[in-house]
Amino acid sequence: MPNELNKLKEKILKKGNLPGHIAIIMDGNGRWARRRGLPRTAGHKAGVTAVKRIVRAAGDMGISVLTLFTFSQENWKRPKNEVSAIMKLLYETTKREINELDRNNVKLMTTGRTEELSPRRRQILQEAIERTKNNTGLILNLALNYGGRTEILDAVKKIAGDVKRGKLDPAQLTEESFSDYLYTNTLPDPDLLIRTSGEMRISNFLLWQTSYTELYVTDVLWPNFSVRDFYRAIQDYQSRERRFGRL
Ligand code: IPE
Ligand code: IPE
Ligand code: MG
Repeated sequence: MPNELNKLKEKILKKGNLPGHIAIIMDGNGRWARRRGLPRTAGHKAGVTAVKRIVRAAGDMGISVLTLFTFSQENWKRPKNEVSAIMKLLYETTKREINELDRNNVKLMTTGRTEELSPRRRQILQEAIERTKNNTGLILNLALNYGGRTEILDAVKKIAGDVKRGKLDPAQLTEESFSDYLYTNTLPDPDLLIRTSGEMRISNFLLWQTSYTELYVTDVLWPNFSVRDFYRAIQDYQSRERRFGRL
């Protein structure tokens, strides 16, 4: 790691107050490719390289949870060849990187309706999750076939089922116990949400969980997102005053 980058890292660590859970909307792969006259799938491939460096940087810095918006429910509406290229990348990258992730004490998990992915693909993910389940370092959470409204609806359906079976009294439901019905029930809410490539929207990501998350939008396209850009986002977070409605 270049010395200057290392110094920046030390500075951030010294300041303390790190975001425990960072979520990223990794956007801009298509634009990155278009600017180079390449097919969109080349952008997704370049995006994987960015994923690798940011996962490493997050682990090195001692971040607890990194949630990456990898494939949204809405992304199925893209052309078939793009969808299958993304899925192939996901599956190949998981297979290729699992040894290193495990060696680095990363614990892999997914958030979203993964039961709707192809069985073969699901199995690769399931094996990687199983293999890393006792790791105690960075939790790498891939949001896959994820939609925020669907997650809330799925929670409501489970709650309705529990009420019907007499397991739950609706009057006793709180924000905390509602959160237990979400896909992310084992995770704290994100402290920082980064979106690359400049779009100022949430795109159906973690709707419930981001109610008090600090937002950081950068124009940098995801494949170009560097460790330095990641550090900048963290530094920006460190300068924020989180009030949660208080004074
Ligand atoms: C993000 O990049 C990756 C996924 C949504 C899977 P995009 O593919 O959305 O890139 P742009 O927004 O077209 O540039
Ligand atoms: C959000 O990006 C989904 C992922 C990064 C996986 P999109 O590119 O799909 O979002 P929109 O369409 O610009 O809102
Ligand atoms: Mg996009």
